[in-house]
Amino acid sequence: MQVYRDADADPALIRGRKVAVIGYGNQGRAQALNLRDSGVEVTVALPPASESRGRAGDDGFDVMTAAQAAERADLAMMLAADEDQGRIYAEEVAPHLRAGAALGFSHGLAIRFGLIAPRADLDVFLVAPKGPGTALRSEYEAGRGLIALFAVHQDASGGAEALALSYAAAIGSGRAGILATSFAEECEADLFNEQAVLWGAIPELIHAGFETLVEAGFAPEIAYFECLTEVKLLADLIYERGIAGMREAISNTAEFGALAGGRRIVTDETRAEMRRILGEVRSGAFTARLIADAGAGYPRLRASRDEAAAHPVEAVRQRLLGLGGGT
Ligand SMILES: NC(=O)c1ccc[n+]([C@@H]2O[C@H](COP(=O)([O-])OP(=O)(O)OC[C@H]3O[C@@H](n4cnc5c(N)ncnc54)[C@H](OP(=O)(O)O)[C@@H]3O)[C@@H](O)[C@H]2O)c1
Repeated sequence: MQVYRDADADPALIRGRKVAVIGYGNQGRAQALNLRDSGVEVTVALPPASESRGRAGDDGFDVMTAAQAAERADLAMMLAADEDQGRIYAEEVAPHLRAGAALGFSHGLAIRFGLIAPRADLDVFLVAPKGPGTALRSEYEAGRGLIALFAVHQDASGGAEALALSYAAAIGSGRAGILATSFAEECEADLFNEQAVLWGAIPELIHAGFETLVEAGFAPEIAYFECLTEVKLLADLIYERGIAGMREAISNTAEFGALAGGRRIVTDETRAEMRRILGEVRSGAFTARLIADAGAGYPRLRASRDEAAAHPVEAVRQRLLGLGGGT
């Protein structure tokens, strides 16, 4: 896989463009601040009634609607929620963005699943930082960067790749590495991972382990430390040393336990289910469910948030925070 760095990017390309950052949430704020600190002219776009307008204004940005920002921009960076991007593009961006401008994304979903069919005259690229906006910003401020994936969907000008690399470098990712991918690969791998590994499977495993210990009569605080707090130690070890290196850093007892337990939990059936999840991602069935939930006011998302908040593990967390520990 080809990895690009600052030396491969021309910073003048993005500095010569007016960038409209559409959305000022997790990614929008971080990217807007990093771009500005890299010498790029940035306007922030938010709905008229958005509560984030105050924050963007306090950060020193001109804030306007997406339609107004698109009209003034050479590049519209789509950093609203994925499920809103189709509507925002159709109603506010496409009618106003000048001919020959560029359209950028930090996730491939809207293009991969056809929520947006970009105008043929636009350059269309992806720069997807591999981490949350808070980390993108703090790494940039520390003189480092987050790895980003990049791809070109449409190269109307012949300069889309160079512009994407310039953008990625301006948000700090050239300091760490900019990896070439496609919209489909980035989107499908990301949606799969969110469900099958990261945000879906790991919290469910924590809940299940906690419940098993508490049902068997263990103190909830002990169950919490064992099943939740130590996940951070594990993640840090894997991040620093890899999985094989992590095993060297734990006791023989823990390592032998890993042999005994891991493959009884993650079984052939688990792997088969992972393949089914990947199938639903690739067929668009998952995205269709997401769009339907958003259209109905997020009943499923809201119910799952309520369910997570009501889980006994959260009450234990509050008690431990009260004792000054157990984060
Ligand atoms: N979160 C991450 O760590 C992460 C990482 C990599 C890539 N991404 C990608 O980055 C993109 C943005 O995700 P996010 O998590 O940053 O989203 P987010 O935190 O939910 O922020 C979305 C922003 O869009 C604004 N918005 C809504 N309607 C708008 C409109 N009509 N015009 C302009 N702005 C509008 C929202 O306004 P309000 O503030 O009023 O709600 C909010 O500021 C997505 O494509 C996502 O997949 C996210």
